[in-house]
Amino acid sequence: MDFRFDIIKEYAPFFLQGVLLTIGLSIIAIIAGSILGLAIGLGKMSTKRFVRLPLEWYINFFRGTPLLVQMLLVHLGLMPLLFSQPSATVSLAVSLSLNSAAYVAEIFRAGIQSIDKGQMEAARSLGMTHTQAMRYVILPQALKRMIPPFTNEFIVLIKDSSLGAVIAAPELMYWGKAAQGQYYRVWEPYLTVAFIYLLLTLSLSKLLHYLERKYSNQ
Ligand code: ARG
Repeated sequence: MDFRFDIIKEYAPFFLQGVLLTIGLSIIAIIAGSILGLAIGLGKMSTKRFVRLPLEWYINFFRGTPLLVQMLLVHLGLMPLLFSQPSATVSLAVSLSLNSAAYVAEIFRAGIQSIDKGQMEAARSLGMTHTQAMRYVILPQALKRMIPPFTNEFIVLIKDSSLGAVIAAPELMYWGKAAQGQYYRVWEPYLTVAFIYLLLTLSLSKLLHYLERKYSNQ
């Protein structure tokens, strides 16, 4: 079987455009998702039921339904209510962010609750306020523990942004599908796309190991 490198060469500029969008979308989603996720995570630890309950259901919904379904709901349902010409890229960014917020909220909550409660008691008995104890004792330890799941979240976002191809957001997978559709060839476009995703996720997990080593021995 011949392997048509010319197809890859022809599509190289598009794959490059696509990978830039994939990276950009993942960065936007991890930032927006973290801000929203932090708020949700903190709210979920509230003692007030009317604050906690809706947030619990937000998390339940976004973790308990497929991202593909959420993306279609956003793109075909929500966005047309707000814009006359919804952009698939914006819809993808929004659904990735909303989805990621639910996971990040749990990362924050689990990170904070994983710190032994003796730490809070000790800090309080030294005369710190609750906020000071959080700021100087709990959060520095919790943040360290959040690094691995957080990097993992970023890796998941890179891979899951490929669902955007379904609504024609021109990220990496979209161009793979385009090349496949034009030439009816499977191996060339999809192996190339797989290789690029692998390159992205492997370099991220390398970075993760580096960060873990750097912060675990202090
Ligand atoms: N791909 C799965 C889904 O379709 C999981 C999504 C996980 N998302 C995340 N941000 N960790 O629901």
